[in-house]
Amino acid sequence: MTIRTAVLPVAGLGTRFLPVTKSIPKEMLPVVDRPLIQYVVEEAFTAGIEQVVLVSSSGKGVLEDHFDSHVELEMALAAKGKDELLQLVKDIAPPQGKSISAVRQSAPLGLGHAVLCARPVVGNEPFAVLLPDDLIWTDGSTSAVLTQMVEQFDEIQASLIAVMEVSPSQTNLYGVIDPYDPELDDGNDIIRAKGFVEKPSPEVAPSNLALIGRYILTPEIFPLLANGKKGAGGEIQLTDAISALLEQQSVFGYRFRGVRYDCGDKTGYQMANLALSLQRSEMRDELLPFIKKQLADWS
Ligand code: G1P
Repeated sequence: MTIRTAVLPVAGLGTRFLPVTKSIPKEMLPVVDRPLIQYVVEEAFTAGIEQVVLVSSSGKGVLEDHFDSHVELEMALAAKGKDELLQLVKDIAPPQGKSISAVRQSAPLGLGHAVLCARPVVGNEPFAVLLPDDLIWTDGSTSAVLTQMVEQFDEIQASLIAVMEVSPSQTNLYGVIDPYDPELDDGNDIIRAKGFVEKPSPEVAPSNLALIGRYILTPEIFPLLANGKKGAGGEIQLTDAISALLEQQSVFGYRFRGVRYDCGDKTGYQMANLALSLQRSEMRDELLPFIKKQLADWS
């Protein structure tokens, strides 16, 4: 079965980025010159997704506007002969045959609840979830993470979640996989799970393999989300429902290829900007000497 739908939870208040997020959605913060949301939408369409569903809330209309056509701007660019910029603006819209729509999450009840809000659009088929906070950079020789995961899903036909090793002291910031057989899975790309725990303290964490914001889930997850059980932080957690899904079917972690930047965090966000700016040849020549000077001044 192919993965046709991607769910992008974007209803959060972005409090970690206040004051800028008072009037600008966190997902519209730019990394170099593109908003965060554009990276994940492009990743989804590249992986073959046909419909992207934003799980949104009030004040987030600008996210939909970003992917809509802007006739006035396009006419102005065309009149001035700015063809490259015109193309850049046109390319933001979903390609032919693909769509972006939005559903509302009326109350901030957690990531699990956000995903549940997309159920009527997803229907009874496997789907992807991408968290825009997690920007995952892959160079030209590696396919984007969701593409890697869709390929894996084609083979295993089971839910899988991107995982990566984090410092054991940081497990309380993530969902964490409890590997079925740590020795067997050591170093493998695909890791069979026997449980998942949301934000465990380091003393009780079953591993330091953290869940990163790319999921492919089977629709059996929805009834488990609908039971409304609250978990860590008093929220309906996606991680808890995935752990419960293990009673019915296998679920796997997938050690992806790529560099993940935590753009939900100010430091991670700056790292993403720095790293991706250095990828741009037009910026690198000025930026590198500047960074070197900063380093010298600070050491
Ligand atoms: C969410 C998930 C968590 C996951 C993380 C990845 O947490 O609940 O399991 O590890 O995203 O970024 P959040 O960062 O929204 O607190």
